[in-house]
Formats: sequence, C-alpha cells, structure tokens
Amino acid sequence: MSEAGYDVERIRQDFPALSMLVRGKPLVFLDSAASAQKPRQVIDAVTKMYEAEYANVHRGLHYLSELATARYEGAREKVQTFINARHSHEIIYTRGTTDALNLVAQSYARAFLEEGDEIIITTMEHHSNIVPWQMIRDEKGLVLKAADVDEEGVFHLSSLEALITDRTKIIAIPHVSNVLGTVLPVKEIAALAHKAGAVLVVDGAQGVTHMPVDMQDLDCDFYAFSGHKLYGPTGIGILYGKEELLEKMPPVQGGGDMINTVTLEKSTWADLPHKFEAGTPPIVQAVGLGAAVDYVNAIGMAAIGAHEGDVLTYATQRLASVEGLRLIGTAPGKASVLSFVMECAHPHDISTIIDQAGVAVRAGHHCAQPLMERYDVPAMARASLGLYNTRQDIDALVDSLEKVREIFS
Ligand code: ALA
Repeated sequence: MSEAGYDVERIRQDFPALSMLVRGKPLVFLDSAASAQKPRQVIDAVTKMYEAEYANVHRGLHYLSELATARYEGAREKVQTFINARHSHEIIYTRGTTDALNLVAQSYARAFLEEGDEIIITTMEHHSNIVPWQMIRDEKGLVLKAADVDEEGVFHLSSLEALITDRTKIIAIPHVSNVLGTVLPVKEIAALAHKAGAVLVVDGAQGVTHMPVDMQDLDCDFYAFSGHKLYGPTGIGILYGKEELLEKMPPVQGGGDMINTVTLEKSTWADLPHKFEAGTPPIVQAVGLGAAVDYVNAIGMAAIGAHEGDVLTYATQRLASVEGLRLIGTAPGKASVLSFVMECAHPHDISTIIDQAGVAVRAGHHCAQPLMERYDVPAMARASLGLYNTRQDIDALVDSLEKVREIFS
C-alpha cells in the first residue's frame, strides 16, 4: 500500500506498458507530464467502442449512431462531474489543451478585445499559453505582459498585481507549471482578475492530473486540459468555459454539426456545446477520456495527489544527494515534476544515457523557452510522476544518474 492508501503495485498491473522491458531493462516511466501511460480499462473502452458501438454521432437515427451519441455525450457528463462544472454544455471537446487555448484566443480575444487592451501571462507558461496570445496580439494591436516567478520557482501574487491596469482584459496562467511544478493559487487569481474586469484562462494540463479541481470553487472563466495526460487517449481535450461567456463567443470553425440553419446566404449557430465542435468530432477519444475519468475517480484524485506527493518528497531528497545536480523549481506545495540540470552533462546526454537503463525522462526546453531563459539554462532534464510511480522508480533514476556522473566525471 502507498502512504495514500492505494495499492500501487496492483494499480501498476492495469497498465500494460509498465511491465515492458526497454533495452532489456524494466521500464521506469518518469515522463507522464509529457503523456501518461494508459490503463487496460481505457484501452478496452476504446476497443469496445470501435468493435461494437461505433458510428458517427448526432447524425443518424439508427441504432449504432444513437448508441455512439449516448456514449459521446455520456463522457461529456462524466467530465462535467469530474471538474464540477455547473452545466455539461460548458464542456467543449477539443483536440487538446493547445487547441482549447487557441479557441479562447481566436474567439474570445478576437471578438471582445480592442487595440491597446492587455493580456497578462507568466514567465512559466508552456508555449501553448504564449503563442496563441502573441498571434492575436499582433493581429489586433494588443499588449502582452508576463509576471515573473522567483529564483526558487515561487509565484508571488504581487508580481501579477503589479501588471494589472484598467486595460487588462485577460489573465492566462498555468494551474501547475510543467517545468517547475509550482501550483498557482487559481482561486485568488480569479478574484484579482474579476476585480479588474478581466477573465481568467487556466492552462490546466498539469493541474487536473494531480489534484481534484472544482470549476465552481476556483471560479476561473476558462480551464483547458488534455485527455492524454489524464491516462486517456490522444487527440481529445477539454475547454471548460462559463456558460455566459461561451454563449456570447463566436465559433472559430465552421462546418457540419455546429449550425442550426444554413442557406447559401448565411448560417446560424447551434446551441452550446456544439457551436464549437464543427465536423466529425473525436468520438472514440471522448469515450476513452470518459473511461479515464472513471478510472482516476475510482482511485480518487486526492489519493493520487497524496501518493504522488509522497514519491515527490522522496525524489526531492534522493536527487539532492546526487553530486553536481541542481533541482530547478522548489516552491512549497509543488506538484509532481522534478526538473534538473547536472554540472557534468547536458540534459540530452543525461536522458540518452539513463534510457539505456530503461529510465524515461524528458530533456530539452519543455515547450517553455522563456523559462529556460529565466533560469539561464539551454535545457533541463525532467522526471515527472504519475499515479503509478513508486519510490523504487526514483531509486532506479538516482542509480542511473550516478552512472551519468561516472561517465562524465
Ligand atoms: N506539455 C507536455 C510537457 O510538458 C508535452 O512535456
């Protein structure tokens, strides 16, 4: 049993990939922040859908289409409950977090911001919460500013507050930094944003995977996340948005399923959520995401967070013992990512060498180049934890890092 009270060894058996040998060694998978492995329950749900429940949704009046539609819409309701959104039509299916954030930029910002209006982000953003805002900034003559973190990776509300003006219209933040693990106080930032008359957009890709999230409690206006980091399929993500905002936002893509009426002269839009879901959607992926939500719910997000917290504490202590290794991002209460550099080796070399021992980590700029610049490093290595990682995984990581040291010293 883990400290958090679930049997991690039994849980690991749900994940076929975790019993693989990689380069002749048992796989030690420490790259779940990039994409998580899939449990049998998700794989089976996807297979079952393709084998016996598959047709296009919303279009047919036949048995399979009705069944597929029920599964697809049923998954939306699972997501609604999972994040405690007020309505299921506040859950928009997208291709992933990136797609969801682009939707807000291309719809909300394009329609409602005017030249000189300001958007505030942070230096911690993933490129998916920077580039969409730069694109719309350039198109509309907006101003984009970034609030900094301190050397330890702690985010101070004052750094954000100092940037707010009466032109601030959007604040966009990560829930959890994919590099530093810093957890941002979403609820407090939502209150700040609303006081300033702005909306709060949250990149929740690394948040929803590590802790319970409650849209009504956090009171953010938009929250984006990906299915594949939550043990579900690729190609599916969620944009949560408050009903009153989504209602007034124009669609970004036109096509089938997003319309109410079409004539050769003009069209009218479908109701939420379909207004934002043009074309045949990722039907099976949505159902797979629903199965992933069932899976993590059965363990409990609080229990997952507690288990990962235990492994994170252990990992932080063990990595501190590796000579010449510097952890980047040590904010109190941080979540499950450990980014580091070593004096003796470039992160790409670290990753390549420890891969020989079956240990999978990510190395590079982690789609957060401004943050690399902030910490004055070209790249970092990153071990990231999922619900299935153990202290033994950390021991294997530390052993393999000692080999890196031997090779390069
Ligand atoms: N956004 C993913 C990561 O941080 C890919 O690794």
